[in-house]
Amino acid sequence: MSAPAEHPAAANSDAAAHRPARGPRELIFELGAEESRCVEAPAPEGEWEPLEALLGDALRKTPPALPNVSELEIMRHYGHLAEMNFGVDSGMYPLGSCTMKYNPRINEDACRLDGFAGAHPHQPAASVQGLLELMWELQEALGEISGLPGVTLQPAAGAHGELTALMCFRAYHLDQGDVRKRVLIPDSAHGTNPATVSMCGYEAETIPSGSDGGVDMEALRAALAQDVAAVMLTNPNTLGLFEASILDITEAAQAVGALVYCDGANMNAVLGISRPGDMGFDALHFNLHKTFSTPHGGGGPGAGPVCVTEKLASYLPGPVVVRDGDAYAGRMPERSIGRVRTFWGNVGVLVRAYAYIRALGAEGLREVSEQAVLSANYLRQRLSGLFDCPFCRMCMHEFVLSGAAMRKEHGVRTLDIAKRLLDHGFHPPTVYFPLIVEESMMIEPTETEPLSALDAFVDAMISIAEEIRTDPEIVKNAPYTTPVRRLDEARAARTPDLRWRPDPGGLSADG
Ligand SMILES: Cc1ncc(COP(=O)(O)O)c(C=O)c1O
Repeated sequence: MSAPAEHPAAANSDAAAHRPARGPRELIFELGAEESRCVEAPAPEGEWEPLEALLGDALRKTPPALPNVSELEIMRHYGHLAEMNFGVDSGMYPLGSCTMKYNPRINEDACRLDGFAGAHPHQPAASVQGLLELMWELQEALGEISGLPGVTLQPAAGAHGELTALMCFRAYHLDQGDVRKRVLIPDSAHGTNPATVSMCGYEAETIPSGSDGGVDMEALRAALAQDVAAVMLTNPNTLGLFEASILDITEAAQAVGALVYCDGANMNAVLGISRPGDMGFDALHFNLHKTFSTPHGGGGPGAGPVCVTEKLASYLPGPVVVRDGDAYAGRMPERSIGRVRTFWGNVGVLVRAYAYIRALGAEGLREVSEQAVLSANYLRQRLSGLFDCPFCRMCMHEFVLSGAAMRKEHGVRTLDIAKRLLDHGFHPPTVYFPLIVEESMMIEPTETEPLSALDAFVDAMISIAEEIRTDPEIVKNAPYTTPVRRLDEARAARTPDLRWRPDPGGLSADG
């Protein structure tokens, strides 16, 4: 049977509870009236030079095209936009690889303390000793957690950390007159890894995964040679699996003079349990905006500190914070690759990470990872009977299901399942990544979701699987309860309509 736009079964779920109070409505330019005002500036008192005399040609000829709205209209407008948004505060957000977990609100207060938020990047070090001490302690903590003692807090994101580390690798090799050109990356890697490699002027070469989801050791050994600059690995990898051959991998790579990079975006699975430095990695980046408390998504700000072995520490970008007795200062490492970010990096993100690490301590961080792994395995066990689970062994903080069989038997794609989950009040998991699993769904519940939310997610998936078997059109036409239904994604990406500007004859779109 074919589903009408509003399929009766659309009302079958708990979705009503999650339905947005109102759908799209006017833009702010369409609100208000000529006479509406939010703030009326008082007329200046006393004698003033006319604006024309003060500004000359710089005086604008027409008033700015600002909407005329009252304070109440503004509040309702933004309140409405917030209601239409979906975030961790609204519901479970199991977006694999992205770690959309709840971040303690108190860390937001910490980073807004005057001494941190109000510090000016040009202030002399003597006047920001507290902040520098915090950054030094954070460097120490990240060095301890990773097992890699050289730390820079400069990079502004994970991909930026990758680039920073590869630049250090190149500087290290060049210092020894060693010019290398290839970087080996498993086919399960995050897209930023090969992109970073090309940006850095190396050639990326893909190594296939073996049948257990780990790196195919034979293929890796065959590719390793004296011209390999680095092997880039994510551990746990993007299938959510711990790389069981990691010691063999680092040993084999280093035997030909290559350096081994750990994409540490998944460190939330192993905090306080295992350390990349002990596995033989030469460098790693953290995603502070995933693992250590900065809200993730929406384009930043983030921070991707890089940790390296002692032999690479002198190549790090600066300033790094150093301690001399009780005093703290910024210093450029001896053979530094230079700056990769202005001033001291994204300091607010660093403060949140510090607060998070100090509040939890070593035991607490370990519990974070244990809980993340437990939650993922609980969901994996409960869902793997419903959907195919191609690498169904004990996972770390996330796991990957496949909707390939559902597509073959019922014509329902993973994308449809993702859309139907919206009707149940869940943000969908990551879909179609990693690329090596057909119709993949990558699910990361995170340590912060309670058991009741995990169970509700399983119930939603059970109900969707049942619909797929009995009336797949329901799923193919979802979502039913969101402010907008399915978008023309290609058009939205290619010709985005981002800007509106009132014109004298009315309102017009101005792409
Ligand atoms: C495994 C992995 N590596 C690297 C990155 C890149 O991090 P960023 O988005 O901060 O550049 C991500 C981001 O989601 C990731 O999941």
